[in-house]
Amino acid sequence: MEFSTKAGTPEKDKSDCLVVGIFEGKKLSPAAKVLDDASGKAITAVLKTGDLANKAGSTLLLHKLSGVAAARVLLVSVGKDSTLSRKTFRDALQGALKAVAATKSASATVFLTELPVADDSGSWALEHAVVLAQEQAYQTPKPGRKEDAEAAKALTRLTFAAPAGLSAAAQNAALLQGSAIANGQDLARDLGNLPPNVCTPTYLADTAKGLAKTHKLKVTVLEEAQMAKLGMNTLLAVSKGSRQPPKFIVLEYKGGSAKRKPVALVGKGITFDTGGISIKPAAEMDEMKYDMCGAASVLGTMKAVAEMKLPLNVVGIIPTCENMPDGQATRPGDIVTSMNGLTVEILNTDAEGRLILCDALTYTERFEPEAVVDIATLTGACVIALGHHASGLFANQDALAEELLAAGETAADRAWHMPLWDEYHDSLKSNFADLPNIGGRAGGSITAACFLSRFATKFDWAHLDIAGTAWRSGAAKGATGRPVGLLAHFLIGRAGRK
Ligand code: BES
Ligand code: MN
Ligand code: ZN
Repeated sequence: MEFSTKAGTPEKDKSDCLVVGIFEGKKLSPAAKVLDDASGKAITAVLKTGDLANKAGSTLLLHKLSGVAAARVLLVSVGKDSTLSRKTFRDALQGALKAVAATKSASATVFLTELPVADDSGSWALEHAVVLAQEQAYQTPKPGRKEDAEAAKALTRLTFAAPAGLSAAAQNAALLQGSAIANGQDLARDLGNLPPNVCTPTYLADTAKGLAKTHKLKVTVLEEAQMAKLGMNTLLAVSKGSRQPPKFIVLEYKGGSAKRKPVALVGKGITFDTGGISIKPAAEMDEMKYDMCGAASVLGTMKAVAEMKLPLNVVGIIPTCENMPDGQATRPGDIVTSMNGLTVEILNTDAEGRLILCDALTYTERFEPEAVVDIATLTGACVIALGHHASGLFANQDALAEELLAAGETAADRAWHMPLWDEYHDSLKSNFADLPNIGGRAGGSITAACFLSRFATKFDWAHLDIAGTAWRSGAAKGATGRPVGLLAHFLIGRAGRK
């Protein structure tokens, strides 16, 4: 999709659809007022019917207003306050984009960005408008099926009214930031949505190589023998039952000074999680193809960072394999020595994410990173705790947690801070090894994070449990692209630091 900004003259705009805001009480936004005057008060007359609901994002589509060049005018409710809250702005935009998509419009001009939004110079609104538009236009990859002809006709050009007082340079920067984040999210969604017989560890490695080529990143893919040599035994214990070779992907973006240490993003890349010998029940097991969404968010964020050309160094680290039952598979009770020397008693082979991540965290030490964030669809317990709105956030350093929480707020991709108190560590006791790979049922997302924290002792570290946020179930089943927005904003913030 193409994005641009422009100022003024709604009545002469030749886009296929014009989108203008209406406040509660039938109050017209500036663009709506211009169109109303040009059309002999046609909008005022229509609003008198009461057909436009007050709820932000409600819409009413009008056709062929006299005195207006565009064939369609979409009225959108934008709440009661002349300065929109961030939520109202997003709700209004989402409603509008959905309504535009239901028409045959190939181009549209959205005037909602002329309205002031709380604590925003206009950059936030433009960026979010772009991200929301691309989210709305997203098409799930359907391997083996032909292009959808209807979808091919969809909206391709979107123009936004220039926010008042925002320089042209700032407008362009906001559009670019929005499309970089949207492109990163699209990549993460595509990878998540692909079937597990296509999106294998090898496929993820090839995707990383492709990104490296397009964006001049450095990529290294370690094979099983190299991982064995490094002593990544907990990772290899997970992969043992699978016919797919495991991969360990390292993707380096160097946009900052050579002296500055990188920020590391570590993503769980289980391309299918059967549970292994501790096998999962059949219901909804297909959704365990999404168990690589942490890895997908790392690849998506690397893409966004490269497109934004952020002045900092980032390393993306992706341990990836399948978790399958087999004659060779790891048994409950097996004890393996992780890369950092701690022995782990694998009491449940379905708690595999932490087993691949712990070796990845140990490997990450070699970069002496300024901060490490791991991202994982780690526990069903996190879904029970937080539902589908917030990712679980854990950290060994409160300032880092605050930074990530703020990034999530800005990106509308929120996280919630969870504890890692000593008391929770007490459930990680084994009679036979340094630690077991599971605690009890209580506080399952916390004890999983506690396990990881034992391998994150050499750096500032945070963990995002995205089990509830990375995909949707039911009729709208599909990957969300989260938390690419949060991670991108975290890195934008870090790039601004010296
Ligand atoms: N990938 C799952 C976590 C998961 C489950 C995410 C359901 C989203 C929905 C993870 O590997 C897993 O199986 N975790 C177990 C841990 C348990 C065995 C301690 C879980 O959450 O049940
Ligand atoms: Mn599992
Ligand atoms: Zn898993």
